[in-house]
Formats: sequence, C-alpha cells, structure tokens
Amino acid sequence: MVGGWRLGTRGMVMALRPIPQAVRAAQARASDPSSSAFVSANAGSGKTHVLVQRVIRLLLDGVAPERILCITFTKAAAANMAERVFSTLGHWVTLDDAALDAAIVEAGIARPDARLRMSARKLFACALETPGGLKVQTIHALCTRLLQQFPFEANVPARFAVIDERDQNEMMERANLKVLLDASRDVNSAAGRALNTAMASAADVTFKDVVREACLSRDHFLAWNQRAGSIEAAAAQVSAALGVATGDTIEAVEREIVNGPHLPNSRWKEVAVILESTSKSDRKQADRLREALVFSGSAQVDAYLDVFLTDDRTPRDSVLSKKFRDNNAVIAALFDAESLRIGPLIERRRALTIRDRTQALLQIATVAAANYQREKQERGLLDYDDLIEKTLEMLDRVSSGWVHYKLDRGVDHVLIDEAQDTSPKQWDIVAHIISEFTSGKGAREGVERTIFAVGDEKQSIFSFQGAAPREFDARRRLLQRKFVEAGLKFDP
Ligand SMILES: Nc1ncnc2c1ncn2[C@@H]1O[C@H](COP(=O)(O)OP(=O)(O)OP(=O)(O)O)[C@@H](O)[C@H]1O
Ligand SMILES: [Mg+2]
Repeated sequence: MVGGWRLGTRGMVMALRPIPQAVRAAQARASDPSSSAFVSANAGSGKTHVLVQRVIRLLLDGVAPERILCITFTKAAAANMAERVFSTLGHWVTLDDAALDAAIVEAGIARPDARLRMSARKLFACALETPGGLKVQTIHALCTRLLQQFPFEANVPARFAVIDERDQNEMMERANLKVLLDASRDVNSAAGRALNTAMASAADVTFKDVVREACLSRDHFLAWNQRAGSIEAAAAQVSAALGVATGDTIEAVEREIVNGPHLPNSRWKEVAVILESTSKSDRKQADRLREALVFSGSAQVDAYLDVFLTDDRTPRDSVLSKKFRDNNAVIAALFDAESLRIGPLIERRRALTIRDRTQALLQIATVAAANYQREKQERGLLDYDDLIEKTLEMLDRVSSGWVHYKLDRGVDHVLIDEAQDTSPKQWDIVAHIISEFTSGKGAREGVERTIFAVGDEKQSIFSFQGAAPREFDARRRLLQRKFVEAGLKFDP
C-alpha cells in the first residue's frame, strides 16, 4: 500500500487513515529482519502487518521459504497471516516494474533493481511450491507435525488422530455422564459418596451441575491433585488452610452444637415451656426450639441455629425479650453462654463443609478426567493439550543436539503472531526450537537466525489469570539476554 491508499480485496481503491510517520518508523524498524525483536502494541496498530513485512523481507533477502516458521495460537490467526503473505506475493506477480519497485521500497528495501524484481516475482510460486515451503501454522499444527514425524521418541500412537475442541467437549460430556451413571448405580462407591457430599451442601443443584462444575475446573483440580500427591493430601492442605484438623468431621461438630453444656437438646422441651410464658418474640423462640426437636442431624442443627441467627445467618440482635431476662436470669445466662459458644462452632462447621465439598469435587473431577483419558487412549486420540504436553515432554527428553538436527535444522527464523496467547508451555516449546540459535553450535556460516514476536497484552485470553503480560515480558527479557550474550542483535 502506498501513500495511505491501497487496493481493496475486490480491487476497489479504499481510503485508509493516513499512517503517522512515527508509526511508520517504528514499523520499519520492527520489520528489519536482521535483528530479533519483541513488539507489544495496541489492537489494530499493524503488528500482523509488520510480521508479514518481515517474512517478505526475509524472502527478498534470499532466505529459503522452508527456513521460515510462522506460528500463532488460533487457526483464524494462522489463516490470516498466511493469506496476507500470499496475497501480497500474489499481487506482486501482477505489478509492472514501477509499481513493483514501489511495493519493494514499501517493504523496506531502498533500491530495488532488475534482479530483485525478478526474484520478487518468483517468490509467490517459490513460497508455495518448495517442499515443506513457507510454514505458517498454529502451534498445535506444528506440534502435530513434530509428533507425527517422531511418534516413537514422543511416546504417542504412531497413527494418532487429533481431536478439536468440539470433539473434546463431546467426549467430556460422555465422561461426565459415566460418572453420573456409576455414582447412581452404586451410591457407596467413592464417586457415589462424593456426589452425595457435593450435593448435600447445595440443595438447589443437580447431579449434572455438580459434575459439570467439577469438570470445568478439572485442569485446576488435577494440577493441584498432582502437586499434592493424592486427593487426601490435597484435602489435608485445605484443612490446614481453613484451620481445621484433618480428623475433624461435620458430624462431630454438629453433635457438639446441639449437645452442648448449656442448652443440650434434652432440655429444649422444658425451656420452650418457660419461654411460652412471656412475650410474642419469646413464644416464637419456643416454637423454634420445638421445631428443632422434630428434625435430626444437619437439619436439626440448622433449625436450632435459627434461635440465634436471622434468616440471612447473622446473629440476632436480641435472642430474648428484656422482660423474659428480668424474670428468668438463670435461663437467660444459659442462652448468653450458648450464643458465645456456638459462634466458633458455626465457623468450624462452615470450614468443614468447604473442605468436604472441595474434596468431593476433586474426587469427581479425577474420575471424570480418568474416563476421558481412557477413551482417548483406547482410540489413539490426542487433544490440543496433549499435543503441547507430548511435544514438550519429547523436547525435554531428547538432547538439544537431537532437536537441532531433527527439528530446527531447517528453521532459521521464527515469527510469532498473537504472542500474548502463548501459554508458558507453548513458550517452552518455542524456546526448545530456537535453543540453538544462540548456542553457537547451531549457527551456520553467515546466517543470522532470528526470533520475532508481536502481541498485545490487553487482548490476552489468559489475562484473567494475570499470567500473560508477565509471560510475554519475561520471555522477552530472557531471550534478549541470551541473544545479546551470543552477540546477536535484539530490539526490545
Ligand atoms: N504501514 C502500514 N501500511 C499499510 N497498512 C497498514 C500499515 N500498518 C497497518 N496497516 C493496516 O492496518 C490494519 C490493521 O493492522 P494489523 O491487522 O496488522 O494490526 P494488528 O496490530 O495485527 O491488529 P490485531 O491486534 O487485531 O492483531 C490492517 O488492515 C493493516 O493492513
Ligand atoms: Mg494481528
């Protein structure tokens, strides 16, 4: 595009907002392919444009297409990147000399000559036709390719199939359903008991809601489970965090609540009779005590606590009327002592409910995840997380020399779009792929190998975890240090 105008996709000339000189200068610097760079800039500021310019400049500089690897996170972003590279190169084939010169200058090369024009016109065919040509792909596609090449080293089925997010959701639904069926078939199984516990503390949720909740947080639960070593160990951590003893049970606390030293349930009937004698509010308390006697277990505890707590479970302003207190000092003292005693017990009961529910969800998530895992294994399937995981495991296992010769021997330039969406594990894969760029061993005569990443931290799909901005920045600093130490140029 020249002078703030460009040919639209349907051949129409479209007016664009003029691009400020400062932006152009920054873009030109970022698209200079002789220096590695990390660029963070706002939405629509031209990051993908610069990345595409860099690819084109690399090709114009004579870099073979197969030595360039462009990766991104989503299929849409990869398609967008590829489309822009190929439509630009395709367009060049159709330009006359003057227009092509202008386009090459726009790409950042000052004085194009006839030879450069000739190679510029060949780039389109060359990038498309070279075996293993220009690689513009998602990180998942890259991993798929690596795993297919090295199934033995990666410890994956030789002819694995990849499932996308939709298949994955369907399979998870099935895995969840199986937990439900198993649990309802045998309520005393681990899953059956866990479902019971998870549901007991939230009367308005259904089986399905509970399993769903557990499965949605599955990764989180499983990672935690793994760190802790077992479900029991994870539950012990919850106990510690909540300040309750591992051996503490809700039942024991509940017995303690209704069977204390001041107003044990054996005395409720007799006390209710005395409460009858005074005001309306005291009669209501008498009703509450009698009602509590109808129930047992948790329900009795809840009914008894109504004597001391309001509907929104805050302490009542006055448990007894002034008149009652004046006439029944001994009984009033029992109620006061009871008010003080039950506060900490209520807290403990709440903490134990949270602990038991967490443990139950952990149990359900583990069983559902195991079902899902089993189906994948039986059918030789890998999901997107497996692709990343297995690739990383393989790269961690093999020596960096092996990686160099088998994997990245062909790649001299790695370009990453939407880098803010690159997870820590995906960055680790990138780090393996470019590990030899800076080690000297991998440097070939006269070849400057580069990494280029563009992203916008504000657009990160991970930003809800607060991880991405730090990740992008941390990787930039790490790589910058490595590159500079290796005597390579790196633009921050
Ligand atoms: N120097 C430039 N010359 C011509 N067009 C440009 C230039 N810089 C940006 N543009 C155009 O501006 C638009 C937005 O640019 P681009 O898609 O590269 O931004 P981005 O930063 O990648 O956006 P996003 O954050 O959405 O990924 C595109 O149509 C692009 O072609
Ligand atoms: Mg973009």
